[in-house]
Amino acid sequence: MTFDHSLNISRDFFSDSKFNAFFDRYDTFLMKEWNSINGRKFRVPFEQLLQFESSNYNTSLDEVHMGTILTEDQQKLLNDNLLKLGPWRKGPFTISNIFIDSEWCSNLKWDRLSKWIGDDLTDKDVADIGCGSGYYMYRALAHHPRFIMGVDPSLLFNFQFHTLQHFGSDARAVYLQSRLEDLESFSHQFETVICMGVLYHRRDPLICLKQLKNLLVKGRGTCILETLIIPSDEDDVLNPKGRYAKMPNVHYIPTLNRLKKDIIEVGFFNCDVIDINQTTITEQRATEWSTPTSLDSFLDPEDKNKTIEGYPAPTRVILRLT
Ligand SMILES: C[S@@+](CC[C@H](N)C(=O)[O-])C[C@H]1O[C@@H](n2cnc3c(N)ncnc32)[C@H](O)[C@@H]1O
Repeated sequence: MTFDHSLNISRDFFSDSKFNAFFDRYDTFLMKEWNSINGRKFRVPFEQLLQFESSNYNTSLDEVHMGTILTEDQQKLLNDNLLKLGPWRKGPFTISNIFIDSEWCSNLKWDRLSKWIGDDLTDKDVADIGCGSGYYMYRALAHHPRFIMGVDPSLLFNFQFHTLQHFGSDARAVYLQSRLEDLESFSHQFETVICMGVLYHRRDPLICLKQLKNLLVKGRGTCILETLIIPSDEDDVLNPKGRYAKMPNVHYIPTLNRLKKDIIEVGFFNCDVIDINQTTITEQRATEWSTPTSLDSFLDPEDKNKTIEGYPAPTRVILRLT
């Protein structure tokens, strides 16, 4: 297994010389990641999985389904190595009869979103910022984008995505192991930008919103944004001191009114609410494929409408920004 054929990105979609400097740096960065302690740890199960044949994938089911029929021994080997590539946060997936029951039933969010998607993806160049393992990318591919680039800083999710790509390869999808704030070279490159579950992790929400807008083609383009809000009619924002629902890195939970103001302030003209939903312990829960604790342990045992720290329990909004 050589590095070039594993985590690296196909440059077919990036032939313009303006990307050369970015991808030269990216090659060096990925080579370091591949040879890092975690890189070496994930490579072992990843390389074991490459012996199995690929197949077409099917996204018409709630889980993304791929892989061929295997013998019992092969299934055991596959199962063991997929577990070593965990925790699987976003899914579910079925690979050759093995059901990866991820922590999140991401299909529920996709159901809330997809009925409003219209032609936002069809024949479009799309970016999914904070794409995780790529679950939503596979679901989005069913809407026939021209190309979809997932962006996430996680090396583990990069290995998970490439595992999925090994089994259900789709050349329209690529994973860039990077951060939103490092995508200057991709300015005005996408007709649709999806960004779910990232804004509240940023200390600088206005800069984050500007960076999303900057990825969109000039004068048009759509951003699908999902983030935490406080259910209140006020114009207010919660900056949790310490943890929020046990998460150490949550910095911005506005009310819907405040969020809309911030969105308009950075230059979007329209902001349509697609969905507001309080996250349930049916949607986010511990499984053998994830970690031993999940949302149920992060809420107040006496009052499930509060986090364990006493803040309002997680409520998420999906917005369509133009
Ligand atoms: C809460 S998860 C959301 C995953 C998925 N988008 C969803 O909605 O289910 C946040 C993801 O964003 C990624 N992330 C965190 N900071 C980021 C940044 N600055 N740029 C891009 N992705 C980021 C994390 O690694 C993680 O996979």
